[in-house]
Amino acid sequence: MTTDQTSPARPAPVDMTHHAHLSGVFAPQRREVDFDHLEVVGELPDDLHGSYLRNGPNPRFDPIGSYVYPIDGDAMVHRLDIGDGAAHYRNRFVRTPMVVAEEEAGHAIWSGITDGYTPPADEVGPDLAGTFRQLPDINIVEHAGRLLAMAESDQPYRLNPGELATIGRDDCDGAMAVGSTAHPKLDPDTGELVLFNYMLEAPYLTWAVLGPDGHTRRAPTPVTGVDRPLMIHDMALTSRYIVLFLCPLEFDIEAMLTGGGLLQWRPESGTRIALIPRDGSAIRWVDSEPMWVWHFANAFDTPNADTVNADTVTVDYVEWTYPGGFADIPTPATSTLVRAVIDPARRSIARTVLGESVDVEFPRVDDRALTRSHGQIAVVGKSEGDTGDQDSLWFHDLDTGRETCWRPGVAIGEPIYMPGSVNDYWGAFGTDPVDMTSYFYVLSAKDPAAGPLGTVTMPIRVPAGLHGAWLPGDPR
Ligand SMILES: [Fe+2]
Repeated sequence: MTTDQTSPARPAPVDMTHHAHLSGVFAPQRREVDFDHLEVVGELPDDLHGSYLRNGPNPRFDPIGSYVYPIDGDAMVHRLDIGDGAAHYRNRFVRTPMVVAEEEAGHAIWSGITDGYTPPADEVGPDLAGTFRQLPDINIVEHAGRLLAMAESDQPYRLNPGELATIGRDDCDGAMAVGSTAHPKLDPDTGELVLFNYMLEAPYLTWAVLGPDGHTRRAPTPVTGVDRPLMIHDMALTSRYIVLFLCPLEFDIEAMLTGGGLLQWRPESGTRIALIPRDGSAIRWVDSEPMWVWHFANAFDTPNADTVNADTVTVDYVEWTYPGGFADIPTPATSTLVRAVIDPARRSIARTVLGESVDVEFPRVDDRALTRSHGQIAVVGKSEGDTGDQDSLWFHDLDTGRETCWRPGVAIGEPIYMPGSVNDYWGAFGTDPVDMTSYFYVLSAKDPAAGPLGTVTMPIRVPAGLHGAWLPGDPR
């Protein structure tokens, strides 16, 4: 290969050993394996039958330039099939053109997404020259027969559900033509997948709807009244509204070009909440104090008998004091599980902290309760504070207000609610930080803090990752 004299030099390797998100429980897993009948301690419930899929950043080769968690890395999807008391495992990389080209070269070619470096044509050919690494490594979603590895603000990659082979980028009949964030929401009543996307240029924010048949029901539609590019990671959905929290984390290209960061925390702007009627009528706006939200647990419409022709919206989410890592603030960012009741008629919001747990993230509910009132929220916590490992699962019972905690003694990942034919369960991957053995835990949803009913010993280490999905029934 000859090097184009005008091309910038390929960035130097990242120091993996000293990078918190490339070592220890986060170290990338390079093996792709299939294992049947994994070792189980205790018992897997007979009535639990389905597949747990989980996505996460997992660079195919040792990265070059920089590595910013969680926005860098290639995607690896892990699938654990559970049925008849047994467990089987398969994992695969999502093979974007960048992963394929790097596999041919045998090393990393694309650098970190924040480096601004792109490979030249003489190295990757004219089609891939000048491109950035595609990152479908945040979430995994199944809808209308499509299994989608979701990126932060881009088109997803479609996978073959059985083999986990990569089929290719999918704009989902045009609903994701301008891209999608990684957290679309499925309405269990209508079968619709509702999604949004943010972008650096006007109109800055769009929403769209896929029908239950997989065809576009609403093409990407601008959210009117947005005059600047903001990072918005997740959304909530009620029967009537798409709920978006426009927190003051702004993209600022000018700041980046003058040596600052691309993302600027501007608390003086406050948080604006958009209730976007799913029928396409006028957006309702409510102002709030500055806060930062990565993830919502759920939201639902709450009819208010005191107000004629008005209803409130209840939103449960993890509220951060500010986005740690994106603001130069000496005190650590802290988070709590919060319930907000929003009155669009009065343009008011009332926030209440749920429970005692702090420094929590990854809130999940029973996905069948999305858009409706939910009974339980599970979150991951850190018993040693914000700088410690995610080592706890907290379970908040909304009916009783009771909060319980299970500490498995390992680094634990996002919980997943798994309905069985008789009973329901929570599950999560975890990795022992000492011997690096990974496990999948199955907990009773009735008393999850009692510890696992069954623990699957994983045949290879499953790196700490991001979001997952439970697909009930026979493995695809
Ligand atoms: Fe997320």
